[in-house]
Amino acid sequence: MDIVIAEYMKTRPQRDLHLDSGFRAWAVIHVRLFLFVGHDSEATAILNCFYLLSKSPEMLARVRQEHSSVFGTGASSAQEVLKGRPEIINQLPYTSAVIKETLRMFPPANGMRDGTFFPTEGLGIWIVQAAVHRNVK
Ligand code: HEM
Repeated sequence: MDIVIAEYMKTRPQRDLHLDSGFRAWAVIHVRLFLFVGHDSEATAILNCFYLLSKSPEMLARVRQEHSSVFGTGASSAQEVLKGRPEIINQLPYTSAVIKETLRMFPPANGMRDGTFFPTEGLGIWIVQAAVHRNVK
């Protein structure tokens, strides 16, 4: 919120430096949406990655090897490398595959839609992603 408001205030005329209530209301809604919808899904996805990797030592070794070759060795080197060259994050195909496969096996989020195919007017259709992702047909 601090960053959003500071950037917005830079666009205000100097004589009018108070926050207007319309902007404030929408900024709070959007920032809250981003924080809440992103937080739990991310945390769950990371935990599931760790869980699955703990069951597959060979895959864990490959992830580590990929990270070492891209970021160098040492726990803090990734942060430094990424600060200087953020695009290097795209050079982790194996890690990316692990994340995608984890999301396929244990999707941490679902979706709700209006139904049109079956007579479901007025109902919210809850999409069971885990079943869709495991359906081989
Ligand atoms: C592994 C991480 C994540 C997963 C699996 C995930 C999954 C999803 C899914 C399935 C939807 C669609 C729900 C629907 O349309 O019914 C959605 C919507 C959304 N996600 Fe995520 N998400 C993740 C991370 C994040 C993060 C980090 C952010 C933001 C910081 C974010 C922001 C949003 C927003 C704004 C929407 C749209 C909400 C709306 O329809 O108004 N998500 N996400």
